[in-house]
Amino acid sequence: MIERTAVGVLKEHAPGEHRVALVPGAVPGLIEAGFDVVVEQGAGARAGFGDAEYHDAGAAMAGPDELRRRCDVLVCVDPPPEDGPVPLRAGQVLLGMLQPLRRHRRVRDWARRGVTAVSLDRLPRTLSRAQAMDALTSQANVAGYRAVLVAAHAYRGFLPMLTTATGTVRPAAVLVLGCGVAGLAAVATARRLGAAVSAFDVRPEAVAEAASLGASPLDLGVDAAGEGGYARALTDDEARRQRDRLADAIGRFDIVVTTAQVPGGPAPLLVTQEAIGGMRPGSVLVDLAAGPLGGNISGSEPDESVEPVPGVTLIGAPNLPSEMAPAASTAYARNVTAMLHHLAPEGRPVIDPGDEIQRAVLVAHGGEILDPAVAERLQPEGAAA
Ligand code: NAI
Repeated sequence: MIERTAVGVLKEHAPGEHRVALVPGAVPGLIEAGFDVVVEQGAGARAGFGDAEYHDAGAAMAGPDELRRRCDVLVCVDPPPEDGPVPLRAGQVLLGMLQPLRRHRRVRDWARRGVTAVSLDRLPRTLSRAQAMDALTSQANVAGYRAVLVAAHAYRGFLPMLTTATGTVRPAAVLVLGCGVAGLAAVATARRLGAAVSAFDVRPEAVAEAASLGASPLDLGVDAAGEGGYARALTDDEARRQRDRLADAIGRFDIVVTTAQVPGGPAPLLVTQEAIGGMRPGSVLVDLAAGPLGGNISGSEPDESVEPVPGVTLIGAPNLPSEMAPAASTAYARNVTAMLHHLAPEGRPVIDPGDEIQRAVLVAHGGEILDPAVAERLQPEGAAA
């Protein structure tokens, strides 16, 4: 009899993280494909999926130590916490959005232990046959949608144009900065709510996509398309020009949603304090790029709402998919399932760094760090770090 691969679903521990890597609906398909599914007790609770639901779908439940002991593959959303009493072991596969460029020391620990670390957030968007595994896209879609709802909730006016017996109310003016996956979802959502939407991106093709969804392009005079369909970092001069032009234009907008990212680098600062000072009271800004090292908007704090100038609300919202944990987890579970099928087509993982998709997502395997960008980040720290 062929031994079945046990896939363990880890409970998330990052503060504010409500998602779970596999939802009950994903369990029967995996079992049929030759996996056993073991779920850490309570793993789905914050996403609205109880242990009983997983059990009914065919999964076994286990405590954290038993799960780590028993499973060949562990799936997660965020990187799991530092090792508890049962550390990850050689040959075990860890699959999730492991943020290896930020958590490069964790990758080194996994490599030293012989863990195979597979990071969905390293998947190149250009591989069309890997689209079903594209977790960055599935989660960015949720984030862009939710960003507009968060902004609409904080904004104390209407988004659509209203015609009433006493006259017409103009639609809210929404500006989306950064038109990748999240930005385009924000444009589409704001349009559906009836707002007048403008958009800017440093990549002309992203602006064209936003325009096709009904946004008016805002010209900030910079064009910085980089490699692989991503943006490059702006020069100091370009960044200054962009910020100055934006400061002149921003007072026209009631709602600003920012989503700009540059791969491997800090989020670019787009909106300065001075620009915010030019906004009308009642305006709302939502910064999806807010992080501990800053974001797209000066003064944004992750998961906080602040009032940088009287009457203007600035919301730092780096993890909006967690606020829609049932939907975001369902989408993410599809990505995880697609990657499991790819890694283990016959139900057993076959690690092959020669495979194009695997080469991109395998960050550590067989005691080695396979992701050159991670290895590069570790270099200055030396072997002792
Ligand atoms: P991202 O999250 O890295 O960045 C978001 C947006 O910010 C990007 O559009 C970027 O151009 C923009 N940006 C960066 N610096 C900026 C600045 N200073 N000012 C204004 N905007 C700035 O991007 P995401 O969403 O990951 O998309 C990256 C690329 O991948 C896009 O070309 C997208 O179309 C492509 N993609 C392709 C897929 C496929 O072919 N299957 C699936 C998903 C994305």
